[in-house]
Amino acid sequence: MKIGVFDSGIGGLSVLPAVRRYLPMADILYYADEKNVPYGEKSPEEILELSKKAVAFLVEKGADAIVVACNTATSVAVAALREIYESAERFVPIVGMEPAVKKALEQCPGGRVLVAATPVTVKGKKLQLLIEKYDSGRLTDTLPLPGLVRLAERGSFGEEAEQYIKGELSGLALDDYSALVLGCTHFNYFKDSFRRLIPQKVSIVDGAEGTAKRLASRISALSPKPNGGSGEIVFFSSGELVDDSPKREEFLRALRRAEIMEVLK
Ligand code: DGL
Repeated sequence: MKIGVFDSGIGGLSVLPAVRRYLPMADILYYADEKNVPYGEKSPEEILELSKKAVAFLVEKGADAIVVACNTATSVAVAALREIYESAERFVPIVGMEPAVKKALEQCPGGRVLVAATPVTVKGKKLQLLIEKYDSGRLTDTLPLPGLVRLAERGSFGEEAEQYIKGELSGLALDDYSALVLGCTHFNYFKDSFRRLIPQKVSIVDGAEGTAKRLASRISALSPKPNGGSGEIVFFSSGELVDDSPKREEFLRALRRAEIMEVLK
């Protein structure tokens, strides 16, 4: 079985630990659109075209299901992608990612929730509808953090990133919140900094686990069921196979960091 995972860059790797827990034997085709990152500052039209191109590439490479491991691309393109791939002769389930607002509100009943995401996700209709649907008490605020995507892509996970986050959080009454939603997969790389900068009582919530669970359930409903696989990961950078070892090592290093961040509470 092959799972195509797509993000603008390394962000989507932070969803892989959860995906591998549910589907350990699946082969992963990972598409990082590094030529076009960051998506969060592009127009919806551009993001839609880039997302279609990435998913077409992964389906062409034999993906049995697609994870759009990018909240920004999901916000703009998931409906169009489903129209193409979930009604065609060859049915390829498209599993998107959206900020885990529902999970955060359920985890902390009555508590305020801060959703950090890219500018496109924050401004997008999809997030507004999600908040309207689950947040009848108007407990949710949003915070765009575009700088974190660039920092993650540069592998800058230390002091510079922490200062950036600190600056962006500085005007907020953080004690008023019960949960912080990481609504961009790139933000998962900075969970250690967020943890140091926000009060201990504020829980950090992301959508990786829920996405992996949905993926597993969509795959189990497929007929005929895809099988086989050896758990390997093949990386593509904007459609080019990553076969040189330094570049592959970079992706694997990011994945190792994502695994360490995932278990932080
Ligand atoms: N990782 C993507 C997300 O989850 C966006 C990063 C970008 O702006 O390219 O929203």
